[in-house]
Amino acid sequence: MTRASASRSPFLAVLDGASLNPPPLWMMRQAGRYLPEYREVRAKAGDFLTLCYTPELAAEVTLQPIKRFDFDAAIIFSDILVVPHALGVGLRFETGEGPRLDPVTDAAGLARLSETLDPARVGPVYEALARTKAALRPHTALIGFCGAPWTVATYMVAGKGTDDQGPARLLALREPELFQKLIDLLVEASITHLVGQIEAGADVVQIFDTWAGVLDPISFERWCLEPLGRIAAGIWARHPEARIISFPKGASVQALTRIAALGVNAVGLDWTADRASLRKLGEKTALQGNLDPLRLIAGGAQLDEEIIRIRNDFDGLRHIFNLGHGIRPETPIAHVERMVEKVRDL
Ligand code: CP3
Repeated sequence: MTRASASRSPFLAVLDGASLNPPPLWMMRQAGRYLPEYREVRAKAGDFLTLCYTPELAAEVTLQPIKRFDFDAAIIFSDILVVPHALGVGLRFETGEGPRLDPVTDAAGLARLSETLDPARVGPVYEALARTKAALRPHTALIGFCGAPWTVATYMVAGKGTDDQGPARLLALREPELFQKLIDLLVEASITHLVGQIEAGADVVQIFDTWAGVLDPISFERWCLEPLGRIAAGIWARHPEARIISFPKGASVQALTRIAALGVNAVGLDWTADRASLRKLGEKTALQGNLDPLRLIAGGAQLDEEIIRIRNDFDGLRHIFNLGHGIRPETPIAHVERMVEKVRDL
């Protein structure tokens, strides 16, 4: 989308510098199991990865939350683990247990990985984006995404999700050169994948660093900030106008400020962020967030009150209303409807 037509999208307008009241709104994981229409398509696809790799179905579920809630942005239905899968890592999703990957823990494991992304795995993502783009109305922006190298590496090293990302943290401490090679591979793969998504029609790309908050400041600098800077530079070298959102979950104000200084269009905030101390940062970059997904499950007066507080705390700044992390499957749809009304003054 060109800058001229971007003004029709409130979400892109905020990324490009505007402050809007009411703020644009979307939700992380907005296509997912809390929606009965998602569960239906998911059952038809059989398993999660088939859904990700079937462009018609991926586009269909991407559009479901837009049809229901008219969110200001659609995020392409895919997963951050598509990148390691496309580099040759064995991946499966076991029901109720989350992802399982063939772990990469040593030089031999790293050497087995491909240096380029398998088009059979990433091609369907680009096709799903093109299909979704063609179906969206101009006021709805389209978001592409990938996982940040650090977060993707935590799953690759452990072979699954862990409570404290211990396996990747230990490998990074014991064998920093080996870990650096893994991060470097993921930096290049992320640039390629995000550029591919932009060229397929994504108006903006979001980089999810779900586990940025578990690193000490020195490690954050090396494994999160520096790779993010290289990814942004790599994208801007090919597409100088490309919009980038960084979501470093759990990052400190100092860390968020360093990320904003890279020149990204927005930073995502989780619900632990102290909004009052972020107003200065909000003068440099747009702020996206930060309702606790559990408040959305609980509903009632506390939900209404927190939505009002978030809007007031970010008043006058470039704010994109969102959750502080993905919506959970058990969230009542009525509470999402209530949130939409409260954010939009309906
Ligand atoms: O936001 C969206 O609606 C777009 C789609 C999206 C998914 N995953 C779909 C998905 C996005 C942006 C992601 C990102 C993602 N995936 C992250 C980063 C953000 C975050 O939530 O922390 C991570 C760490 C993953 C890896 C992943 N994928 C895990 C740990 C799991 C299992 C946990 C779970 O929720 O089941 C997944 C599976 C997954 N990815 C589902 C969805 C809708 C559920 C699978 C199903 O339908 O059975």
